[in-house]
Amino acid sequence: MSKVIKGGTVVTADLTYKADVKIEDGKIVEIGPDLTGDEILDAEGCFVMPGGIDPHTHLEMPFMGTHSSDDFYAGTRAALAGGTTMVVDFALPDPGQSLLDAIKVWDNKSARACCDYSFHMAITWWGEQVFDEMKTVTEKGINTFKHFMAYKGSLMVNDDEMFASFKRCAELGATPLVHAENGDLVAEMTTKLLAEGNTGPEAHAYSRPSQVEGEATNRAIMIADMAGAPLYVVHTSCEEAHEAIRRAKMNGKRVWGEPLIQHLVLDESEYFNEDWDHAARRVMSPPFRNKKHQDSLWAGLASGTLSCVATDHCAFTTEQKRYGVGDFSKIPNGTGGLEDRLPVLWTMGVETGRITMNEFVAVTSTNIAKILNCYPQKGAVLVGADADLIVMDPSMSKTIKAETQASSIDYNVFEGIEVTALPRYVLTRGYVAVDKGELKAKEGHGEFVARDPNATVNKALSKWKELTAPRPVERAGIPVTGV
Ligand code: URP
Ligand code: ZN
Ligand code: ZN
Ligand code: ZN
Repeated sequence: MSKVIKGGTVVTADLTYKADVKIEDGKIVEIGPDLTGDEILDAEGCFVMPGGIDPHTHLEMPFMGTHSSDDFYAGTRAALAGGTTMVVDFALPDPGQSLLDAIKVWDNKSARACCDYSFHMAITWWGEQVFDEMKTVTEKGINTFKHFMAYKGSLMVNDDEMFASFKRCAELGATPLVHAENGDLVAEMTTKLLAEGNTGPEAHAYSRPSQVEGEATNRAIMIADMAGAPLYVVHTSCEEAHEAIRRAKMNGKRVWGEPLIQHLVLDESEYFNEDWDHAARRVMSPPFRNKKHQDSLWAGLASGTLSCVATDHCAFTTEQKRYGVGDFSKIPNGTGGLEDRLPVLWTMGVETGRITMNEFVAVTSTNIAKILNCYPQKGAVLVGADADLIVMDPSMSKTIKAETQASSIDYNVFEGIEVTALPRYVLTRGYVAVDKGELKAKEGHGEFVARDPNATVNKALSKWKELTAPRPVERAGIPVTGV
């Protein structure tokens, strides 16, 4: 049974053109004018784009004494509702736990996924076993390793562990990721704030100023450079971190930054709301920041110094957030956004002229697929690519409301924002999961996307490291080894 998306304008990261798109067996088989097929999806007046890829989610994440509430079923339903057709989640071994056991746990959780997914592996402890297992992890199709520089006493790793792991990534052709905040300083500031009676959610923001992020980002960049590895910085939220990334890029280092849709549109004033629940629901790390930082992130997307827009979807209910009444450091960190990332970025980015439609596709899909090494299976409108597609309808609009969302939590941090484009259709490997705006996600449809190591950048970097490696100078009559 073939399907044809008809009459739309195809928008990719580098082209905009009128064409029909034909799909068979979950793949794109033809792109061109006047195509025919068994089922027609009318895309008149719409933009046909690669489905969104969210490179950063935490579905059913065990964290801060609880689990994030959206699991792989609820989370990927929400993703599809908003045009995201692939999520990349973080497998988190407990300290001392085998990385391979963590993959089994994540395999079980993800069996219910409605869209395709992949995993990053978190390095939460270090030892010979982790060093050895990293190779097996890459052989299983996971080529990205996450390091938390924050969350002291739980997920945090130190510089020596990070350097060892980054060197291992370089050997394996894998890419290290970092959550860049100086965890030692955050811990010290948290203790001081609490002792001074600053116990509310606003103190969460005071405990993690932009300096702690800028410092850690720069440190991770330098460590990656010494290790000969590229670096992907998750949830880049401030000018100091962006500045470090920009500088690194200008110096030829292979570094990518990932702002979140939340940081682009929501600011620190949320934490000063008199309603404790309102403020606590927005507690995440790094915290929301002021307009200066937001402008910097938008500029990064427009100029290409920042590469991807993610959500870090990690949704906790109000009841879970209330674990932190009287002590902000116990508020589970995380916010949602899977359903809203694309419509909000389109409305606040494309429709304001901050970014072009092609840049929108690049930062929500194509750049991500290239960096994570699953392009052009994902992130492309090309013959042979998976038919993960979104038909974006600029005549549809809605006001975001928790009441009508797919996510299982009881609020939405974007509540009240009017979005002025929505998916008319969303296809996940050819299956129509959003049909004329109606969500028809299918439990268990999602498949694991294996991603090989040795993406282009890793190859280039290892070649360069090899050519510039220390070599002894040969001197006539002087032996290299002592006598
Ligand atoms: O606050 C956040 N971001 N929660 C999820 C875990 C993380 O740090 O990414
Ligand atoms: Zn658990
Ligand atoms: Zn993080
Ligand atoms: Zn995260």
